[in-house]
Amino acid sequence: MQKLLIQGGCPLKGEITISGAKNAALPLLCASLLTMDTVELRNVPELMDITTMLSLLQQMGATTNLRNHATIELSARYISNPTAPYEMVKTMRAAILVLGPLVARIGEAHISLPGGCAIGLRPVDQHIKGLQAMGAEIVIEHGYIRAQASKLTGARILMDIVTVTGTENLMMAATLASGQTIIENAAREPEIIDLAHCLNQMGAKITGAGTDIISIEGVKALHGVSYEVMPDRIETGTFLTAATATAGEVYLRNARAETLDAVLSKLLEAGAIIDFDHNQIHLVMKKRPQSVNLRTAPYPAFPTDMQAQFMALNSIAEGTALITETIFENRFMHVQELKRLNADITVEGNTAVIRGIQQLDGANVMATDLRASASLVIAGLVARDETTIDRIYHLDRGYESIERKLSSVGAQIKRVT
Ligand code: EPU
Repeated sequence: MQKLLIQGGCPLKGEITISGAKNAALPLLCASLLTMDTVELRNVPELMDITTMLSLLQQMGATTNLRNHATIELSARYISNPTAPYEMVKTMRAAILVLGPLVARIGEAHISLPGGCAIGLRPVDQHIKGLQAMGAEIVIEHGYIRAQASKLTGARILMDIVTVTGTENLMMAATLASGQTIIENAAREPEIIDLAHCLNQMGAKITGAGTDIISIEGVKALHGVSYEVMPDRIETGTFLTAATATAGEVYLRNARAETLDAVLSKLLEAGAIIDFDHNQIHLVMKKRPQSVNLRTAPYPAFPTDMQAQFMALNSIAEGTALITETIFENRFMHVQELKRLNADITVEGNTAVIRGIQQLDGANVMATDLRASASLVIAGLVARDETTIDRIYHLDRGYESIERKLSSVGAQIKRVT
């Protein structure tokens, strides 16, 4: 099993190039199921979740071809096995994103029901409800979602809660339905806009992506495309938070500030100085951070995927902070681990109270999920002495070459087996 060893105390200084966004690339890969033609995706990050999704698509009959680093060509001309087996869905919940495209294109899908995971229960009832509204017949048997439809029909769908992959699944399904679909209370994440841009370039007729009402006029068929995946806003936010915590100075290339308003405003509140232009962000931090309160909520509010990283930042900040998690019911697993480094955190319900201390102390800790791992990396970078992080396969699911990128800006970090 691989571990990360981090010798804390080095301010991050230098340039990092941000990779393509995991949570944009995953639905875009699934969108290739919607067309007989070839889809080329550029700026695809090299991550475990991407590898898992490619294996799933291959297993269904699609061909995938890695053209060069970050460019993948996919062809789903023949879909022979519209099944997402338990073994794959349990390692990557985003596999649910094949449901909408499969039902829309070939009228059939068998997808293992995703169970709960480390951060919460995470049901998929909204995905199912939306497809049923479009005329799909869905039964749950033997732990599988079995969906069938001779032809999906456009519908007005009011989502009970804001769901990112739920919105993406239904938006993809609706591109090939007959007539108009309106998704109300849709998620507004930038990754949804990215998916809509790509689908529109494939011939779909989607308007309103990025607002809470998305309208999709179904078309007969979609065609191929060459599309560049947007930069990863959570990777960007993670490096900015690490630079703030270590009192460093970083230039992030291929980074889009406009997708990170809530995070940048909290980093400014913590004392960072930030400037940016259309595709880069520069951050400098000259003092100990001030503690910042925050509450996670759907975009454009503060992202749940940055909550754990801010917990690490607040643990060495001046003052006391309150962090409230409203999206997932169990996303404080990192608290126990941060406490091993001496962080002073108490949790009551969905709120954590973090009393900032001057200095964390290195310790052996364990990664429990992707963003929890990122928070432990940040804590390790600021802690005195050495921190060892175990179970880093979680990190490899969502951060491309994290130790290489951090080493290049002065962190003392290495992977050991
Ligand atoms: N929910 C339901 N029913 C549904 C769908 C969702 O009750 O049918 C609930 C969930 O249990 C959760 C809330 O709604 O409490 C929001 O979940 P959402 O569906 O928006 O999450 P997701 O689509 O499964 C995506 C990201 C997550 C990110 C969340 C929230 C992808 C592949 N995953 O998940 O990313 O945390 O949105 O922004 O886009 C990560 O990258 O580390 C990660 C977990």
